[in-house]
Amino acid sequence: MASRETSFRDRVSLLLGGLEEGREVRAYLRRFEEKNSGCFAVVKVGGAVLEQGLDDLADALALLQFLGLPPVVVYGSGPQLDRSLAAAGIREERCDGMRITPEEAVPLVAEAASHAGLKLAEALRERGAHAVTPQSALRARLLDRDRYGLVGEPVSADKLGIEQLLRAGVIPLIGCVHADERGQLLNVNADNVARCMVLSLRPRKVVFVTGTGGLLDGEGSLIDSINLAEEGDELFAQPWLSGGMRHKVQEIASLLSELEPSASVSVTGPAAMVRELFTHSGAGTLIRQGERIER
Ligand code: ARG
Repeated sequence: MASRETSFRDRVSLLLGGLEEGREVRAYLRRFEEKNSGCFAVVKVGGAVLEQGLDDLADALALLQFLGLPPVVVYGSGPQLDRSLAAAGIREERCDGMRITPEEAVPLVAEAASHAGLKLAEALRERGAHAVTPQSALRARLLDRDRYGLVGEPVSADKLGIEQLLRAGVIPLIGCVHADERGQLLNVNADNVARCMVLSLRPRKVVFVTGTGGLLDGEGSLIDSINLAEEGDELFAQPWLSGGMRHKVQEIASLLSELEPSASVSVTGPAAMVRELFTHSGAGTLIRQGERIER
């Protein structure tokens, strides 16, 4: 175990030392530490990233904890659930982007979420980091049983409980199965869980970790940054901004509109997250509310 921890530390210093922008890193660290009252970051991780980028993700999250900036992690478990539903012969159906959740699917949803969370917790533990999966991080309510089955929407986050974990330096891992006020477990979309966490904890940074490592433009190249006040209208007029991507940007814009002007959202990849957070140029897409410059 000791040797494992040493090698993790070695890798951390390699990771930081490997960044050419050592001064920037220190400046960001100071900045993030200064304003860090409560929650530094809410990091939303898709289920596919947990499968394909687990080691890189765990390195980055452990590093944040190590630096005294433990994030709140909200994770999805879609691919994991797809497999177990298929194995159980339950057909996957969607409505308005929500996964219709029949009663018999709820135990499978809970299991997929729990296994995904445990896997991440274990990867963190291997790196000497401490994470827990709190059972009552969020209260949900049934959305519309006739339409979606046992799908829930977030009502409120357990702000006090989560902040207490953060103060203790522990990373809360929050999945997408949450109870309503009667204890019925509901399937809640992970982006909606992340949104509820962000609005309640008001972090300095919101990070979406995706397989693409950021938002892509019409040619498939990474968009470096979006200043919504300046470029939002033009961006939304682009024909290539369609489907899931359009929805994502709209969600991010609406989230930012409810946060302090200094807050920002980064969409990045598991191996790029540290560079995104601690350098000026970043590695991903930075989205901020920005200001409209009068001309
Ligand atoms: N490190 C800074 C931040 O997290 C700047 C990131 C810039 N990222 C970018 N994709 N342009 O806020």
